[in-house]
Amino acid sequence: MINIFNLHHHPQFWNDPERFEPERFLGNQSRRFAFMPFGAGERICIGNHFALLESQLLLSLIVRNYAIELLDPGEAEMEMVVSLRPIGGLPVRLKRLAKP
Ligand code: HEM
Repeated sequence: MINIFNLHHHPQFWNDPERFEPERFLGNQSRRFAFMPFGAGERICIGNHFALLESQLLLSLIVRNYAIELLDPGEAEMEMVVSLRPIGGLPVRLKRLAKP
């Protein structure tokens, strides 16, 4: 059993692992076996490509059409329910942006 959370937060593979830094995924640096949110090998998640496509599509549509205001600026605590999620959700207010 591989502890994927520990792998994704391991300072041997990630600079400043707790920092939110999506830019770390830019470029061609191989993350093979240091980043495996869908597992690996024979039993890799069959929803892998669907989940990536769906999340990127939804996120891009939301940020293009809404301003997002975080209602509780405190640090969110995580719970493990299949994947990680913030306890009690993450309340936000969405304000529709004017169409360009
Ligand atoms: C962000 C979303 C998702 C994440 C992070 C995720 C992650 C994972 C992980 C870590 C595994 C275990 C792989 C292993 O044993 O090595 C897995 C297995 C699996 N996932 Fe996902 N998954 C996601 C979405 C989905 C979706 C959308 C589907 C179906 C449409 C799906 C179907 C499955 C199935 C059937 C397995 C078992 C594969 C097997 O044992 O052969 N997953 N997933």
